[in-house]
Amino acid sequence: MPNTVLIGAQWGDEGKGKVIDVLSEGVDFVVRYQGGNNAGHTVEIGDDRYILHLIPSGILHDGKVCVIGNGVVVDPVVLMDEIKGLHAQGIDTKGRLFISDRAQIIFPYHCELDAWKETLKDNEMKIGTTKRGIGPAYSDKASRTGLRMGDLLDPVFDSLFQERIDEKNAYLTAVGGKPMESAEMIASLKVAADFLTDYIVDTVTMLNVAYRDDKTILFEGAQGTMLDIDFGTYPYVTSSNSTSGGASTGSGLPPQAVDRVIGVVKAYTTRVGEGPFPTELTDDVGKKIAEVGKEFGATTGRPRRCGWFDAVIARYAAMISGIDVWAMTKLDVLDGIETLKICTHYELDGEVVDTIPGNIRKLERCTPVYEEMPGWLSPTTEVTEYDQLPVNARKYVERLCEITGVPLGILSVGPRRASTLRISV
Ligand code: GDP
Ligand code: IMO
Ligand code: MG
Repeated sequence: MPNTVLIGAQWGDEGKGKVIDVLSEGVDFVVRYQGGNNAGHTVEIGDDRYILHLIPSGILHDGKVCVIGNGVVVDPVVLMDEIKGLHAQGIDTKGRLFISDRAQIIFPYHCELDAWKETLKDNEMKIGTTKRGIGPAYSDKASRTGLRMGDLLDPVFDSLFQERIDEKNAYLTAVGGKPMESAEMIASLKVAADFLTDYIVDTVTMLNVAYRDDKTILFEGAQGTMLDIDFGTYPYVTSSNSTSGGASTGSGLPPQAVDRVIGVVKAYTTRVGEGPFPTELTDDVGKKIAEVGKEFGATTGRPRRCGWFDAVIARYAAMISGIDVWAMTKLDVLDGIETLKICTHYELDGEVVDTIPGNIRKLERCTPVYEEMPGWLSPTTEVTEYDQLPVNARKYVERLCEITGVPLGILSVGPRRASTLRISV
């Protein structure tokens, strides 16, 4: 298998975890390169269900090496608990999970600040974040006041941490908040540091040695194109580059290390949190999709907003990340819907718009223009070969590929490994 970056083409939760799990079989390394435990990647194997937040989904395959790269923001206590959770489920991580010593740390004050900003009354700028401290941790990275996983193991860690706490407390006091006590935080960080010691290494060198030795690498993107800090619906985005470009800066591997990009795309669209969503459905069809698709966030449990497939977004995602093939998921959720709509382009002030405007106020004013296709009434969930699909289901998938200019690589018709049709990947 070529070295592959797998990214979400919409607003996250496209089913990346499931596809990563299926592809992990054929690779040596699986690497997370951005985001943090705002991600929730679900993998269903038989009757077991795993939700991974920080650890690459490849961990469920014996012998695969999993790396949390330098571009990820890591909450050490959350990571320790996630590793312990895997151990309790009989999954071994020793010697095959590695965390970059350069990955930025999420501290409790990042989570406090994230939650505090979100709960301010009359807050027009509420993003609907996961409150996992992602934005504040990346802000500190950019402000050069962050600490990294390697620092956690340094004998001077306590004094470095105290300096940061003093600075945060000065800010909290100035804005009328309650200063935070450092002793308890240091104590729990010490427990996590002891637990994580053997996992924290120079992953940049490790990955480059693997690359030189022709090992196969799969990059596991988190979030999705429309949540990318540069290319998404700013400011209603996350704080990292979730498009394919992030794979290089977030791992330390050169761009030449990437041979192929797979875009994961739902056969419809969902979004969690605030922000514009041109094809959002607020009617019974939207409710049905949410119900059948079990559209609740894997991290926060919040209901996901649902809408029709938006080809403008999919084309934009393909353009920015250089998507070679689609892994299209959740086709089964559309079973039984009489008429399906596909947004082909938008209209704005009487003009045709066929890419995503950078100005969010313009995007908010865009209205979707749809074409309709007849749905299919028989279930697709038991289908194991593409040709077994109802003819209208095939026509729908083929139209999505045609209108986005990207061929089909994988088609998923259920949450389990077995419900995956591998077309050209
Ligand atoms: P991720 O964040 O992209 O990994 O996606 P999530 O795990 O947050 O959400 C995707 C959800 O859809 C999970 O509950 C998956 O088990 C489920 N899922 C994935 N693929 C399919 C599919 O083809 N059909 C159905 N019905 N569910 C799917
Ligand atoms: P996966 O990897 C869906 C959304 C949040 C919010 C915005 C900013 O599972 O696809 P943040 O906590 O990152 O500052 O929140 O981004 N968001 C996601 N939505 N899937 C995700 O990850 C998400 N990670 C963040 O809901 O709108
Ligand atoms: Mg998710």
